[in-house]
Amino acid sequence: MKRSLSILAVFVLIAAGWSCQRETPDVRIIPEPAQMTVEPAMVKFPARKVIYTSSKDSSLLAAASYLGKKLNYTSIENGGTNPGHCIYLEVARLESANPEAYTLKTSGQGVVIRGNSARGVFYGIQTLLQLLPPEVYGDTGLVSNKGIRIPQVNITDEPRYPWRGMHLDVSRHFFPVEFIKKYIDVLAMHKMNTFHWHLTDDQGWRIEIKKYPKLTETGSVRKEADGSTYGGFYTQEQIKEVVAYAASRFIDVMPEIEMPGHAVAALTAYPELSCTGGPFEVRTEWGVSDDVFCAGKEATFAFVEDILKEVVALFPYKYMHIGGDECPKVRWSKCPDCQKLMKTVGLKDEMQLQSYFIRRIEKFLIANNRSLVGWDEILEGGLAPEATVMSWRGVAGGIDAARQGHDVIMSPNSHCYFDHYQGDARFEPKAWGGYLTLEKVYSLEPTPAELNPEEAKHVLGAQANIWTEYITSEKQVEYMALPRMSALAEVGWTPKSLRDYEKFLHRLVRQYQRFDAMQLNYRVPTPVTTAGSYVFTDSLVVDFHNPLENAEILYTTDGSDPQVAGKVYSTPLVLKESVLIKALTRMKSGRTSVLVEIHADKQEFRPGIRLAVTKVPGVDFDLYDGLFKSVLEMDNKKPVSRGVMTSLSLPDPVPAKPFGLIMRGYLKIADPGIYRFYLNSDDGSTLSFGERMVIDHDGLHGATEKSAEIALGKGWHGFELRYFDAGGGKSLVVQWSGKGIEKQQIPAENLASMSTQVMIGK
Ligand code: ACM
Ligand code: ZN
Repeated sequence: MKRSLSILAVFVLIAAGWSCQRETPDVRIIPEPAQMTVEPAMVKFPARKVIYTSSKDSSLLAAASYLGKKLNYTSIENGGTNPGHCIYLEVARLESANPEAYTLKTSGQGVVIRGNSARGVFYGIQTLLQLLPPEVYGDTGLVSNKGIRIPQVNITDEPRYPWRGMHLDVSRHFFPVEFIKKYIDVLAMHKMNTFHWHLTDDQGWRIEIKKYPKLTETGSVRKEADGSTYGGFYTQEQIKEVVAYAASRFIDVMPEIEMPGHAVAALTAYPELSCTGGPFEVRTEWGVSDDVFCAGKEATFAFVEDILKEVVALFPYKYMHIGGDECPKVRWSKCPDCQKLMKTVGLKDEMQLQSYFIRRIEKFLIANNRSLVGWDEILEGGLAPEATVMSWRGVAGGIDAARQGHDVIMSPNSHCYFDHYQGDARFEPKAWGGYLTLEKVYSLEPTPAELNPEEAKHVLGAQANIWTEYITSEKQVEYMALPRMSALAEVGWTPKSLRDYEKFLHRLVRQYQRFDAMQLNYRVPTPVTTAGSYVFTDSLVVDFHNPLENAEILYTTDGSDPQVAGKVYSTPLVLKESVLIKALTRMKSGRTSVLVEIHADKQEFRPGIRLAVTKVPGVDFDLYDGLFKSVLEMDNKKPVSRGVMTSLSLPDPVPAKPFGLIMRGYLKIADPGIYRFYLNSDDGSTLSFGERMVIDHDGLHGATEKSAEIALGKGWHGFELRYFDAGGGKSLVVQWSGKGIEKQQIPAENLASMSTQVMIGK
């Protein structure tokens, strides 16, 4: 008997050992909780398919019912004490006074979530879901709780900031209610609490207003260039449905009704409220219109206030966004009504007229128990007394407002504009422009160091914006939002001291599985390579780094699509010849990244020549008058002046009128090698060595940089640098690097004028 017992004991020990090995808790929660201890073992998920709540409070029951749907539990027992070995939700006073705080304890005794409020409990629920298999996020939820084990944790958590928001522009492109709900679900899983709904703009009015039916009849439809129409709007019933849906996920919805600018859709329907009287067309082009609401007509205020009255009735949230950004003053400056009003009320300029407009609207909102939020332009001409500023043109507006004692939401376009590219623009789907990586989002610090502790209290939090000029589909919204929203979620929630990008990436792998369960089209990271150069003279080693667990890199070197015939990358590629590498990341789920292309270019060293010792330092230049759109247009033109310059830069003084410039000279290479050249120009520029175009940065553009490499042998190399300026900004910066040279301007002693040289052979 004794013997067999001990055999059984050994057997149990082995089994336990096995299960421990298989069941090491692997907790990956986003946003990372403020305090968490994880025991080394897993515990049984409660078998009883009932959720118990501490009271019958309707918000708490809403939270319980949300969890019930995810778990496929139909039964909620409310109003009692914790019977143990179950899921128990309780609103209770916690140690922290933060109304959004919660605690979550999982153990052999069951799951207990306590919150200072039902909202806090809801965040505890979100954390619990992240301890369960990702399938819990799918349409069917957790199919069975049989045999489910979860990590044993003790979490005490609360957000760093009270404002954790996401915006969505539904004017430029319209998204139906079902998608808005899905978007809200994604916010909820990230413990975000504010959905900023950008409902009106020049390109479409998207909210039904009963008193002004033409706003949606006319203002919601635009005629596209190809003759088709594009439109859509939400009825008031649909708005209520969305607001209720968001409320059941403890998300407040802040509507944005744009004024006094970005109002062309409204003015198309009611042109009498403009300065000129119109007529107008709902805009089809992006950007900013000069036509705005007339600030000098009383009818404008009556109209806007009628609209806001209906909007207030639909949205219970305290905050109402009234836009206020990008309002040109050209119409106001010529409008008799606007000018008359300015005189009557004693306004110095149109900036003050804008401020007058916003102040009047604020007064109205306050009388209706609402607080005004506006983009940072509402600082111009003086802030309305209680306005909250959403800082988008960097953080300067936010700093200014906080110093004036106003609340601020940080949404700087440098870190929070999710309409910007998140990877190399050559390979990504078309976007607005810009470049905002996941890591950059993660690096946002919403509270600027410039603020003292008192001022810093005015920073309510952070928000990211999704403007949809180039985002035409739901899938594309998801692609631009994810996973950057996950990064922003940690910025808004997690204590700064716990923020760690590498650990975040590790947590994110699980988040991707949750996204998969939700069928979300998140961006898969592209393969990373550490190769610094793709120009080589002998051989080149290209290594890829797999950015993800549970993923592989597929590549080809024959120009074909790696999805079809790709090899799985395992060891660095050693190249002996020029090839085009195409590569992508493929996840276990089958989802792939965008395709990246690498042109590996085998070159001979370009032979240098020897020059006579009577070198003249500098380069020759030809200067052309004229409005060019390409550097090629200088061909066959006569220069207006020519001479020798000492450096590769714009002439001094820079011509005031549009001009073109061609520089020719020799570049000295002392040490043969691969050199990289950089052209940063506004507008176009090109750099060539003999017949070889090294950098083609031609065309009309702002100050951007392009770079490329070339293998240069010892000696002097003739080159040609072209540039043109077509008005607006003008700049040219030429730099190089390579062979022990850090990126820098090319020193004068490495340059020699061409016209004065005698070539004396190779
Ligand atoms: C904005 O991006 N115009 C607020
Ligand atoms: Zn006017």
